[in-house]
Amino acid sequence: MNYTVVLPAAGSGKRMKADKNKLLLELFGKPIFLYTLEVFQKDPNCDAIWLAVKEQERGLIENYVKRYNLTKVQGYATGGTERQDSVRACLEAIPPCGVVLVHDAARPFIDKEVIVNLVEKAHTSGAAIAAVPVKDTIKKAENGIISETVDRDQLWMIQTPQAFRYSLILEAAQKAHNDGFMGTDEAMLVERLHYPVAIVESTYENIKMTTPDDLIYGRAILESRLQ
Ligand code: C5P
Repeated sequence: MNYTVVLPAAGSGKRMKADKNKLLLELFGKPIFLYTLEVFQKDPNCDAIWLAVKEQERGLIENYVKRYNLTKVQGYATGGTERQDSVRACLEAIPPCGVVLVHDAARPFIDKEVIVNLVEKAHTSGAAIAAVPVKDTIKKAENGIISETVDRDQLWMIQTPQAFRYSLILEAAQKAHNDGFMGTDEAMLVERLHYPVAIVESTYENIKMTTPDDLIYGRAILESRLQ
């Protein structure tokens, strides 16, 4: 089943302790965001790739897209202050389609099978998000003292991609904006409209390149895939 992917790529390098957008940092000589783009370029079910970018980085990113022959990149939106603003700008820019996948450009190691499962689920039930079961024990603490140990059996660590029917996510994103609601993922915007959101089990490799240690894990994942 086919889909359009929206990739927010307009962040910074703050938590990465980098002096530029972390997506431009290289793993084995190639910027991080290109690994992500190539996953979708190679996926025969992906019809179109749209990117949210910072205005001042657009030229640079467009050059990479041309150089790497990423022909599925069909357009750009200008990113906003928060990730949610960047995603909404992109959703408002894309032509109407069946299923939209929202995926952090900072997650280059997404599994192809997970994408297939997400798109299928979004086609049938409207919304599906990638997640992995929590591995550690989770506790709540107040002023440094444990107040509760949470039962982890029902807990999931949520990732992207998050897949939605186009009309549903556009409505949810615009409503959140009009209401001044800020969520930490797209699913939250849909959940608040009382639409069900399905979980699709993903892989632990699908890390978000966020802090400097993620560069070490990222290199290790790439090396393991060469073997
Ligand atoms: O900062 P964080 O790692 O959570 O960002 C997740 C994704 O959202 C990254 O790909 C980043 O480039 C993007 N982003 C964005 N616009 C922002 C902030 C983050 O497109 N204002």
